[in-house]
Parts: sequence; structure tokens; C-alpha cells
Amino acid sequence: MTKATVLTGITTTGTPHLGNYAGAIRPAIAASKDAEVTPFYFLADYHALIKCHEPERVRQSSLEVAATWLALGLDTGNAVFYRQSDIPEITELTWILTCVTAKGLMNRAHAYKATVAENEEGGENDPDKGVTMGLFSYPILMAADILLFNAHKVPVGKDQIQHIEMARDIAGRFNHIFGEHFVLPEAAVDENTATLSGLDGRKMSKSYNNTIPLFAPEKQLRKAINKIKTNSLEPGEPKDPEGCTLMSIYQAFATPAQVADVRKRYAEGIAWGEMKQLLFECINEQIAPARERYEALIQSPEHIERELLDGARKAREVSIPFIKKLRHAVGISPIQL
Ligand code: TRP
Repeated sequence: MTKATVLTGITTTGTPHLGNYAGAIRPAIAASKDAEVTPFYFLADYHALIKCHEPERVRQSSLEVAATWLALGLDTGNAVFYRQSDIPEITELTWILTCVTAKGLMNRAHAYKATVAENEEGGENDPDKGVTMGLFSYPILMAADILLFNAHKVPVGKDQIQHIEMARDIAGRFNHIFGEHFVLPEAAVDENTATLSGLDGRKMSKSYNNTIPLFAPEKQLRKAINKIKTNSLEPGEPKDPEGCTLMSIYQAFATPAQVADVRKRYAEGIAWGEMKQLLFECINEQIAPARERYEALIQSPEHIERELLDGARKAREVSIPFIKKLRHAVGISPIQL
């Protein structure tokens, strides 16, 4: 039996934070060790250009994201780990798919609609202000990422489910016109993975600017944790673990026994300072070894580059013959002599 392909991309516009780690990176790395699947994980650097026109930021983020995954022990013997822009077949397929994608389908995409809604709410008279064609047709690039490798399962957050459904629609349309070439992908949304709260209690997200960088040096990690907002209950006053930001983060790192113990201590009135210390120790203990590897990798980017190029080579063993077949299917091939 051929192994199932699991594929996901990471947009390279920021520094990986604790929320990314608990929600996406940790489960993906665990899955990379499963010999029953072939994971394809990639740096979505062409996706980064949709929202970010700062070249240094995109470059730095690509380095940090790659170093993070390697430092955390991604098994690149089993997983294919690559940079989107090293696979020219992706952009080639994007155009082919663009030509079978209904504009009306793209009109319904949340990412684009959110910008239009903001313009309308802001009293802007051009609803398309700030909307590039990249933003508008971004689901097609994403469909090409997925369909080029015939991925079966695509682990994503809830906000991305619509894009996977669009990829299915586009694949179905192509298959209908040109024959059965694409697997119809499915979104894999893990309800159990943690959604962490950030410094201000809202979901930890780079768009809220409330994140704690995963590999911040120890001192900075402690400082960030000390900044997490709490209520003003005094030491000795019983506290509610539900809806508590410190607890929500603690749960993503501690064992069930540790969590049960800390719940008891909330009831007994643990001081916020003490809880912050516990949280710091728990996170730091878990990530310190990977942080050391991360720092070493950042100091030797040639090792990272070698891994990425090796991943691209493996990915292209699949994508080059497949794009050839797809080109032929749509009528693009050498003149028959
Ligand atoms: N758009 C995704 C995000 O913002 C990242 C991404 C790009 C992706 N291409 C993908 C995810 C293909 C899954 C499959 O999170």
C-alpha cells in the first residue's frame, strides 16, 4: 500500500511563537516520525509576499522557521522539508489551476472578503483598496501547493478549512475537464491541539502582537511570562483556573498530574508571581535543549540550507514528472515530429 501524504505549509512572515509550537509545530513533528505517512512540510515563502513587502523580514523568517523545525527534531529522513520557492512546478501549476478556477469561487474567500469588509466599515469608497491579485487568488496558490503532491490530509487551523475546500473544488473541476489527475484533499483539524492565549488574554497570534517567541533567550522568556495579564486577586485568595491565561498556557506544556496539582493550588490561593515562576520553569525545561540546537543552527545557516535543498530535491522527484503529465493533459507538450 502506498503511504498517505500529509502536507502543510508555514507562511514565513514572523518568528515562531509558543502558540505556533503547541498548535501546529509540535503535532506536525510528532507526525513526522510516523512511518505510515509521508509528510510534506514547507516554508510558504510565496505566500509571505501576499501580506509582507519587507524582504528582510521574509528572509529572516524563513531562516527562523527552518531552524525551529530542525531544532525541534523534525525527522527529515521521513519528512520532505522544503522551501516553496525552490519548487518552480508549484507556480507553474498555479497558472494552470487559475485557468480552471471560477472567479466567483475566489469572490467567496474569507481572506479577501475580510479586507473588503474592513474597507467598507472604514467608510473607504474603494472596497478593493489594498487588495492585490495575490490576496485575491491566494487560495489557488495554496491549491497548487497541495495538489502538486496529491496530499490526502492537510493539517490546518480552522481559519484555513475553506481553502482546503476550495482546493478540492478546483481539483474536481480539473479532473472533470482533463481526466482524473488529482487526489481530493481533506482538511485535518485537530480539535485537541491547544489554542494558547497570549500576553493580553486574547488568542496568541502575531496579528494581535501578544506573542511569546518560542526560542527567546531564557531571560526574555521570563520577562515575557511576567508580563502576562492576570486579575488583581491577592495571594491566599482562591483563584479560578478557567479562562486564566497562565493556566491555558500551562496546560499545553505540563503533564495531566501537574495540571491537577496546580488546579488545587489555585483553589488554595496560589500567588500570581508563584504561578508565573511555575509556568516559566515548566516551559523552559521543555524547550531549553531545542533552544540550544536552534542557536547553533542559526550560527550555521549552511546546514539549514543543505537540508532545504535536499528536501527540494526529494520534492521535485515527485513534482517534475507530475507537472509533465499535467502539461500534457492540458495540451502543452513538444510538437510531435
Ligand atoms: N495559508 C496557510 C496559513 O496561512 C499556509 C499554507 C500555505 C498552507 N500553503 C499551504 C497550509 C498548503 C496548508 C497547505 O496558515
